[in-house]
Formats: sequence, C-alpha cells, structure tokens
Amino acid sequence: MATRSAAPVGRANRPGAHESFLRHRRFRWLKIGLVLALLALAGFLFIPAAPGPYGGTWFGYTLGTIGALIIAWLALLGIRKRAMTRGRWSLKAWTSAHVWLGLALIVIATLHTGLRLGLNLATLAWTLMMLVILSGVYGISVYAALPASLSRGEGEQTQPEMVEGLRAIDRQLGDAAQPLPGTEAERVREAMAQSPFAAGLRRRLSGHAPDCATLAALAGLEGSQADPAALARVRSLLGRRRALLEKMRRQMQLRALLEVWLYVHIPLTVALIAALAAHIVSVFYYG
Ligand code: HEM
Repeated sequence: MATRSAAPVGRANRPGAHESFLRHRRFRWLKIGLVLALLALAGFLFIPAAPGPYGGTWFGYTLGTIGALIIAWLALLGIRKRAMTRGRWSLKAWTSAHVWLGLALIVIATLHTGLRLGLNLATLAWTLMMLVILSGVYGISVYAALPASLSRGEGEQTQPEMVEGLRAIDRQLGDAAQPLPGTEAERVREAMAQSPFAAGLRRRLSGHAPDCATLAALAGLEGSQADPAALARVRSLLGRRRALLEKMRRQMQLRALLEVWLYVHIPLTVALIAALAAHIVSVFYYG
C-alpha cells in the first residue's frame, strides 16, 4: 500500500488540484449532499415519530437505508480508484461525490439514530462512521496543504531527478574514495550502499535518519591522515550526498503524510462495514 499514490486524481504534482475535485462541476456534489442533509433534517423535525427507537419508524428506516447505501457506495471508492475511466463518472467525479456525500452522512446517520446513542451496535457503527469521516477530513486537508510543497514550484527536483543526482554523486565518490585508508574507504562504501528508500513508515514520517551512513562516513573523516586533496574531494561529495539525502527525506516525509491517514481510513471502513452489517442483521432478526 505504501508505494501506490494515495491522492485523488493524480494530484501529486499539481498544486491546487484538490480544489478541482472538491469543486467538480460547480460543487454539484456539495449541493446534492446539502439537499439530502436538509431533507433528512426537515423530515426529522416535521414528521411525527412513533414511540420507540427512532431508527424503527418508517422515516428512521428510510434514513438508515439511505445512509447504509451511501456507506456501501463510498466504500467502493477503493475498487473504483484502481479502474481508470474518464467522463461523467470519472475518478474526479467519484472522489467529489465521495467527500460531499460522506459529509452529508453526518446529518443523515445521526438523525437516523434519533440522537439516542447508547451502548449498542448502532452506536458502535455510528462512532466508527464518524471516525472514518474525521480521517477523511484530515485526508483532504493534507491533500490541500501538501501538494504545493511536493511540486516543482519551489525549484524542487522530482524524485527520479534526485535518484539520478545521487547516482551521479556516487559514481564520482566511488573513484574519489579509492586513495583513502581502508576503514574510511569502507565507510564511504557503506554510505553508498545504504538505500534512502529502505526506511519504514515511521522513519519516513519523522524525516530523520539517525543511522545515516553518509553522515557517519563524513564524521569518520575527522582527523584523517589521507592525502588532503583526495580528502577534500571526498568530503565535498559526501556533503552534497548528505544535502541531497535530506531533500529526499523531506519529500518522502511529505508523501508519507499524504498516505498515512489512509491507514486509518481504510481499516476503520472495514470495521464500520462489519458493525453496520451486524447492526442491520440484528435489527431485522431481533427487532
Ligand atoms: C462513512 C464514510 C466513508 C467511507 C466508508 C469511506 C471509505 C473510503 C474508502 C474505502 C476509500 C478508498 C481508499 C483506498 O483504497 O485508497 C476512501 C478514500 C478516500 N476518502 Fe473516504 N470514506 C468515507 C468518508 C469520507 C469523507 C467524509 C471524506 C472527506 C471529507 C473522505 C475522503 C476520502 C478521500 C480524500 C479518499 C482518497 C481518494 C483518493 O485517494 O483518490 N472519505 N474512502
């Protein structure tokens, strides 16, 4: 999961692209979501409810059914994302509908509970739904804030350019380190062998690398007895390597931030669907 793009509709290198899916077709899905939420609210306020749990009135059932259908459809985005098509039901349209109908659920599902929450399956499903929605809100806020920093706008290199830059430095470093004494040359080789991409999610999120072999190789050159000209060349190359690695780590950190919320959004969706299914089954079988 860590390697695929987590963002909607190829946003990574397009600052402001988040706007295009939120505004899709002049906020069509915001308007549809609002109409649904307002209808739910009007029904809740003006249709007299029968005694008993609100979800059990005909209007409560209607809200529950609409809510469950929306949730099932929202969960399908995971499948839809992996099938590229354009046009009326492009991924952009889906993502737009996903966000706005997802937010409308706050009203629809909350009113379906009749504002009576307790220790039961329905409340568990509602809580999980709210957590999924909250993580979604976090998700679109990072998409909104971060893509600009990932773009070339600030003179940043793209990841493939950085990898190429690193290779170019390493080609020179391999030769330059040859005149160095054994242990120092070995440290330089270790620095070149360390992959900047091997870091796990937590390390990528931190943006730091306490075990950076390039830094260790630089430190190992302190007080070296090697030929000063060779030493200066290796130092300068290691310094460039280190600066480039720092840039790469910063980019990986931003990408990790764009991905990490999906590690909450997706598992909670699975839990929500399980709780929702259990809630529906228990309502129909046990009343
Ligand atoms: C109960 C409601 C929701 C459910 C069940 C749900 C479920 C999902 C699922 C299954 C995915 C696909 C993830 C993947 O495979 O990569 C997804 C993606 C996403 N969701 Fe939700 N979601 C809900 C509500 C929301 C809300 C309210 C928002 C925003 C306010 C939101 C924002 C997003 C975004 C931005 C994506 C990523 C789209 C992309 O990467 O192209 N979700 N959601």
